[in-house]
Amino acid sequence: MRAVRFHRHGGPDVLQLDEVDVPEPGAGQVLIEAEAIGANAIDTVLRRGGSAWDRPLPGTLTGEVVGRIAALGPDTPPGVAVGQRVAALAEDAFAEYAAVDAAFLAPIPDSAAWGTGADSANLAEATMLPMTGPLAFRLLETANLPAGGTVLIHSAAGTVGHLAVQLARGYDLKTIIGTASSPARLDFIRSLGAEAVNLTDPDWPDQVRAIAPEGVDAVLDSVGGAVFDQGLELVKPLGTMLTYGAISTELPTIPAAALFGFKTVTGVSMMGWRGARPDTARADIAEVTRRWQTGDLRPVVHATHPLADVTKLHEALDARTAHGRLVAIP
Ligand SMILES: NC(=O)c1ccc[n+]([C@@H]2O[C@H](COP(=O)([O-])OP(=O)(O)OC[C@H]3O[C@@H](n4cnc5c(N)ncnc54)[C@H](OP(=O)(O)O)[C@@H]3O)[C@@H](O)[C@H]2O)c1
Repeated sequence: MRAVRFHRHGGPDVLQLDEVDVPEPGAGQVLIEAEAIGANAIDTVLRRGGSAWDRPLPGTLTGEVVGRIAALGPDTPPGVAVGQRVAALAEDAFAEYAAVDAAFLAPIPDSAAWGTGADSANLAEATMLPMTGPLAFRLLETANLPAGGTVLIHSAAGTVGHLAVQLARGYDLKTIIGTASSPARLDFIRSLGAEAVNLTDPDWPDQVRAIAPEGVDAVLDSVGGAVFDQGLELVKPLGTMLTYGAISTELPTIPAAALFGFKTVTGVSMMGWRGARPDTARADIAEVTRRWQTGDLRPVVHATHPLADVTKLHEALDARTAHGRLVAIP
C-alpha cells in the first residue's frame, strides 16, 4: 500500500509516498481501508524534528481516519465487523490502510456520503469524531464553567479550536473569546459566535481584559510557552487553566505562586482520558457523533487534498491559514 513517510526531518518536502506492507491488525485492533484522513498540527512539529516529542525515523503521520473495516485482529470487541464504516485515531494514518484500536471507534452511519446535501453527511467531517471532537468536548466538560462565565480558547480557528467554540455555545456562557493569528481566521472565529483576538498582537492579553475585565473562568491552551503564562494570569480566582498541547514546542513550567488565587491547572490528553475513563471516553465519542448527526455540531473542512499531495497539505498546515480541518483523500 502507499503510505506517507519521512526519512529525514525538515519542511513539507521531506514527506514522500512509500510502498509498504499493509499492517496486520494486532490484538484489539481493526484494519481500516481509508476513505478520508484528517491531519493533526502536531505532525508539523514531528516532521520538523528537534522537539521533545521526536520519534525514530522513518517517521509516520498521525491522523483521524474514516473508512470501512477491512479485517479484524484477535480479541476485538463484540459488534465490530468487517464492512462497517468507522472513524478512528491512527498513529500511521496517512496511508491506504491503518491499524487502529477497536475499543474507541466512532461508527459512521451508512447514509454518510460525499457532499453536504440535506440528507448526506461528509466523510471528511467525520474525521473529527474519534479524537478532536471528543477532545474539545472533554476540555469544556473539565473546565468547570459557571453559568454566565467566560472562556478563552486559543487556536480557535483550528481543528480542535473551532469545535470547542461551537460546543462552548452550549454552556450558557456570557462570553466566548477565541484567538488566532490572521484577520481571515479572526473573521472565521466571529462567524462561529466568539469574540476574536489576534494572538500576534503583543497586547493580546489586554485585549482579552477589555472584553472580560474580571478575567476568564477557563483557558483552553494548546500553544504553551509565553502564551500559557499570559493565559494563566488571565484566569480568575477559582478558574481553570487547561493545558492540552504545546504547538510552540515550549512546554510550560508552572510556578506554584501563580496558583495562589485558587487557580487550577489541569492537563488534558485524549490518550490519558481513554486510559483513565474508557467508558466515558466512548460516551464522549457517541455524544459528539450525535451532535454532528443532529447538526448541533458542524465540523468545518477547509480543504481536501489527494494523499499524493501531502506536501501541499503540510504547506497549508505550516501556513496556519485553514478555517477548520485539512483532510487527505487516499
Ligand atoms: N492532548 C491531546 O490529546 C491532543 C490531541 C490532539 C491535539 N492536541 C493539540 O491540540 C492542538 C490543536 O491541534 P489541531 O490539530 O487542532 O491544530 P490546529 O488548531 O488546526 O493548528 C494549530 C494552530 O495553533 C496555532 N498556533 C499558535 N501558536 C503557534 C505556533 N507557535 N506554531 C504553530 N501554530 C501555532 C495556529 O493557529 P493561529 O495561527 O490561528 O494561532 C495553528 O494553526 C495542538 O497543540 C495539538 O498538539 C492535543
